[in-house]
Parts: sequence; structure tokens; C-alpha cells
Amino acid sequence: MTQLADKKILLGITGSISAYKAADWVRALRKEGGTVTVVMTESATKFISPLTMAALSGNRVYHHMFKDDEPEKIPHINLAREHDLNLIAPATAQTIGRLAHGLTDDLLSAIILASSAPTVVCPAMNSKMYLHPATQTNIATLKTYGYHLVDPDNGTMACGEEGPGRLTEWPVARQTILKVLAKQDLAGESILITAGPTREPFDPVRFLSNRSSGKMGYALAEAASQRGARVTLVSGPTTLPAPAGVELIAITSAQQMHREVMARVGEMSVVIKAAAVSDYRPASTYDHKVKKGQPSLQFELIANPDILKELGQDKKNSGCVTPLLVGFAAESQNHLEEGSRKLREKNLDMIVINDIGGANTGFEVDTNRVTMIDRNNGREELPLLSKEETAHRILDRLLQLMEGKR
Ligand code: PMT
Repeated sequence: MTQLADKKILLGITGSISAYKAADWVRALRKEGGTVTVVMTESATKFISPLTMAALSGNRVYHHMFKDDEPEKIPHINLAREHDLNLIAPATAQTIGRLAHGLTDDLLSAIILASSAPTVVCPAMNSKMYLHPATQTNIATLKTYGYHLVDPDNGTMACGEEGPGRLTEWPVARQTILKVLAKQDLAGESILITAGPTREPFDPVRFLSNRSSGKMGYALAEAASQRGARVTLVSGPTTLPAPAGVELIAITSAQQMHREVMARVGEMSVVIKAAAVSDYRPASTYDHKVKKGQPSLQFELIANPDILKELGQDKKNSGCVTPLLVGFAAESQNHLEEGSRKLREKNLDMIVINDIGGANTGFEVDTNRVTMIDRNNGREELPLLSKEETAHRILDRLLQLMEGKR
């Protein structure tokens, strides 16, 4: 289950060529356990049929202010009261203008004006219409009213013009929805998270590294940011997009990660080290690509700084309770014993142990199975979950530890 499970979403669809994309958004919301009620403007029904949206949402679709078979229920007031979040996608210049001026000449705008639920607006229109000062002023007005605007994408429009105005992609809208719905229980915390592998070069094209994809660390960064923390993500090379609202510091080697973490740790209340840091690096590097031809090659490796151990030692020496230190361990055998040893030796507050012996856990995959052990011998074993859900459960546990320290 995800953070969208059991959430009641009102999806307002307005008259844009990208209205067809809303059909996929309904499926995505329902797949995550959300319930969706669709409200369409009159012009939206010209682009996609209410019948399609009813079939996909599994609910009745509303699009008339007055032609309703249950007028005694006052649809715009009832619908305004019943939802956790309003999502308007695609939102045309016309609907944005209506909302900015408090006009209620259709069912959707009347519902939004009468609703106290948060509203996420995803504009989509021709780029000249989007960039017009009237639209930009209306968007700025919506922001001052507390609406959450998701910028449209740049690209080629259906009309052939280039520029901003394409409906954003679902994963981007989803991140905003999750942030808006999340409890802000990490507000005021500054959290540094490391993610991904490090690369230790021995010539200009070759390096020593590992299989970390960064997915676990990025999921933690997204979850902590959604819950209101100020997040700094120090990341080795990955193919993942930068999480929205997170300060991303890109590094390559363990020594660079060491430098960037140490420069920032003084401002942090929590450090979570999900990165898989190379313990060793080649003692010397070649300026030019090493040529083949020799029957064998030997490299000397020297130890990299153990960043987390150094943080734990500094904390012990200072006698301070902050930052809270959370380590990760990926172990293929005796994982609980190995994890507990790292917790003690590195002077950590908590360790998250991945059992990488199982299927679909640990490196590269989208799911994980972890056990958390804290310095008071508290232990929690999680089932196989998505890395997103695992991240939230780790943060829940972290909050309990923080409460204990206050
Ligand atoms: O990135 P993914 O593909 O999603 O995979 C996730 C993961 C398996 C990489 C991640 O969840 C994980 O387990 N990371 C830790 C990997 C590991 O085994 O670390 P370690 O046992 O070498 O180190 C223990 C802890 O010390 C880790 O928090 C590590 O970041 C830290 N460390 C290690 C060495 C070093 N030189 N400096 C460090 O700070």
C-alpha cells in the first residue's frame, strides 16, 4: 500500500487536448488504493467521454450544475465536503481564470470554491496562452490562495508550437499530491541523506564501483521532503531524476562524499547513510587509458575514509545527541549479527539491515526487506515492501527515536 491508499481524490478535468491523459491518471490513482470522483467541465466532455471516465473511476461522473437527478443533495456542496484532495488536470486558462476570480458558473469551479480540501492544479494549454500575462497573473493569484501549482512541461504542443504548456507527467504530479497529503511530522528537521554508489577511478575510463542504483536513498530523500524536512542528498552517480524540493549534491568518489558530508554535518539534525561507499580505492591512477597486452595487471588498493564511523566518533567525542546517525548494511549472511556489530562499532543510533540474500531485496530492485535495530536494542522487521513504503517506515521509526531523545 502507498501513501495514496484510502485517499478520496476529486479529479477535475477541463477542456484541453491532454484530457485523454487524465484517464491514465485515474487508473494510477486507483491502482494505489485511492478512490476517484471525476468532475468534468462541459468542454472537457468534448475531448473525452464521461462514460470512459465513469468506467475507469468506477464512480459516477459529474458534469452538470443543474441537470442532476438528486438535486436535494446540492452536488457542489456535497462533493466539496467529501474529498481529501482536489486535483485539476488538465487545467485550462479558462478554469484557472475562473478560480482566480472566484467565479462559479460551472460545477467544478463551484465545488473548488466551496471546498476546504487542498487543491493541486496542473495547467495545460498552448504556450502563448500559458505565458500570457493574464494567465500568469491568475496563476500567481491561485498561489496566494494556497493552491498547489504543478508547472507544465516544455515541448511540442498538439498545435505544433514549442514551449511550456504540455500537461506534466504523472510521476511529477504524484510527488506534489503526496507532499500535499503528507503529515508534516519532520518539519523543522534538516536531514542529510547519502545515496548510490561511489566510483573509484584507476584510469580515465575505468573505475571500481558496486551495484547500488540509489533507489533506496532517493526514496528516503523524497519521503523526508514530503514530510516537511529540509533534505540534502549527497549522491553518487545514478540514472534517477533529482527529487523535487531536495538539495542535490552530486559526487563521484568516496573522498568527494567524505568532503561534502563533513562540510554540512554541523547543520544537520539527522544523517542517513544509504550509500554503498567503496571501502577501497586504487592507490594510484593512470593519466591515460591503460592499454591491454600485458598478461596480468596488479593494482594496490588503499582504504577510503569510513565516513559514518568518523561521524560516530565525532559524536562520541563531542558528547552531543545530534545529529542522529542512521547507517545501512547490506549483508548476505549473518545479517543481524553483522548489522548489530556495525551499529556498535560506528556508534550509530539506528541501523537498517538489508537481507540481500532474498529475492527482490537490496541492490537495484524497487522493493526491499529490512530489519531496523536501534541503540536501545529496539528491533523492527519489515516485510517485503516498495522502497518508497520502506522509506516511510524507516522515517516513522526515526521519529520515535527522536521523540525518545527530546
Ligand atoms: O541503491 P539501491 O540499489 O537502492 O540499493 C540500496 C543499498 C543496498 C545500497 C542500501 O540500502 C544499503 O544497504 N547501503 C549500505 C551498503 C553497505 O553494505 O554498506 P557497508 O556495510 O559497507 O557500510 C555500512 C554503513 O557505513 C553504510 O551506511 C555506509 O554508507 C557507511 N560507510 C561505509 C563505508 C565507508 N567508507 N563510509 C561509510 O560511510
